[in-house]
Amino acid sequence: MEVITRRDLVKNSAVAAAAVAAGTAVPAAASDSTNAGGAVGRMKIIAICCSPRKGKSTAACLRICLDAAKEVSRKIDVELIELAGKQIPGSLAAGVPLEPGQKDDFPKLVPRLSDPSVAGIIIGTPVYFGNMSSLCKAFLDRCIVLWQDNLALGNKVAGVLAVGGSRNGGQELTIQSVHTSLLCQQMIVVGNGQPGPRLGGTVWSGANGGATGDEFGMATVRSLGRRVAEVALRLSGIVA
Ligand SMILES: Cc1cc2nc3c(=O)[nH]c(=O)nc-3n(C[C@H](O)[C@H](O)[C@H](O)COP(=O)(O)O)c2cc1C
Repeated sequence: MEVITRRDLVKNSAVAAAAVAAGTAVPAAASDSTNAGGAVGRMKIIAICCSPRKGKSTAACLRICLDAAKEVSRKIDVELIELAGKQIPGSLAAGVPLEPGQKDDFPKLVPRLSDPSVAGIIIGTPVYFGNMSSLCKAFLDRCIVLWQDNLALGNKVAGVLAVGGSRNGGQELTIQSVHTSLLCQQMIVVGNGQPGPRLGGTVWSGANGGATGDEFGMATVRSLGRRVAEVALRLSGIVA
């Protein structure tokens, strides 16, 4: 039976990237501990906004989630990628060729996702009929190329937030559905830790003041960001 060690877990981490760049092996102490002898380096957490509406409630929630992640350590860089306006044909995942004149913006995202310095990825989606947006599903299906590329997303930490127009509009079902895809990629899926128990960020955009006025939802969003950052830091061996 193959034994997965902690060294395997840092395969995609910023520590490994730094070691490769420096032409040195990852020292055992750096990969085995977050404390003494831990690696110095930086890591990145990116958020993918899967609303077809640019800059709306899902994007606003992801910004808050990333801010919370960044507060965990000054060694964390963050980036929001909005899929709104991008052409991501889902059928290409199954090898169906593009129609003449049809555009595909997904290939440009591939190096940004698989970059070894990216230690965590947060997916944000609106709830559409109790599930993720079609843009989100197309994006996740297209990530099959990363799965085929030696599990390029494997062992990166993943978290999910869902924004619905109703308080209980299917946010948790949606999160679980996205989780399933991320688990297939062998990502390390986390919920939002404390205060818990929650599966991820669950937001009601119909609150007074919109999504960011949803106090309960914002607490889940911030704790998700912190949880993704904390687990990614632990796995990377970077000292906060
Ligand atoms: C096709 C469609 C289906 C929707 N289904 C649900 C739903 O099942 N549950 C819910 O709470 N909100 C539902 N909504 C509302 C959106 O989730 C909500 O407006 C959300 O804030 C949109 O995110 P955005 O502002 O980032 O685009 C639906 C909206 C659309 C367009």
